[in-house]
Amino acid sequence: MHDQSQEQNKHLLSTIGPVVPVADFIDEGHASACCELFTQCGVPSVEVTLRRPNAWDSVRKCIELMPNAHVGIGTVIDADQLRQAKDLGAAFAISPGISEELVLLAQSLDLPYYPGVATASELMLARSMGLRAVKFFPAEAAGGISMLKSLGSPFPDMAFCPTGGIGVKNYQDYLALGNVSCVGGSWVVPSQAALAESPDTIIAGLKQVYG
Ligand code: 3PG
Repeated sequence: MHDQSQEQNKHLLSTIGPVVPVADFIDEGHASACCELFTQCGVPSVEVTLRRPNAWDSVRKCIELMPNAHVGIGTVIDADQLRQAKDLGAAFAISPGISEELVLLAQSLDLPYYPGVATASELMLARSMGLRAVKFFPAEAAGGISMLKSLGSPFPDMAFCPTGGIGVKNYQDYLALGNVSCVGGSWVVPSQAALAESPDTIIAGLKQVYG
C-alpha cells in the first residue's frame, strides 16, 4: 500500500533535519524575522504549528519567505486543517496523535504526513496503514531514547521524528539513534524578545546546529 510514497516520506524526514524548528509564531512579523534568520543560517525546514487563530498567516509568510525550504504544518488535528495545508502548498503535515481518518485523507491528498505515536499499539496502527515514518510525541514524556531503542527491535523498518522536550542538551543523543531521521523542537525558534536583544547569539546558535 502506497509503498513508493512511503519511501519518499521516509526520505523527506531525513532531509528536513537534523532539527525541525517547531514554531508557534506570535504573528506574521515574528514569522518573517525568524524566516530571515533561518534562511541566513541554512535551516532546511520549519513546522508552523496551528496553535493560534492567526497561524495560517504565519504559514503563508513562511512559504513566501522560505521558497527553497520545506515549510510544514504542525498540530494538525482535523481534516479541514489537513486540506488547508495541501491547498496552501505545505511540504508536509504533522499531528500530535494518529487517527485513521487523517492518515487516509493525507494519502488521498498525496501530502507527506507524519502522525504522532507514543506507544507500540499506535505504531502498529501506523504501520498497518502503510506508514513507515512517524512523529514520536511527546518524546521525553513518553520514554525518550530508551523507548525509541525498545521500539526499534519489533519495528526495525520504522523511522521517527521525536519531538517534545528535546533541546540543546539531548538532541544529538536522539540523532545518534539508527531509527531517528530528525528531531523537532521549539528551542531553535527565537522569541521576539531574543530577536530584538541578541540576534548575533541566535545566529551563532543556529549555525552550530545547521552549519
Ligand atoms: C511539538 O509540538 O512537537 C512540541 O510541542 C515541541 O515540543 P518542545 O516545545 O518541547 O520542543
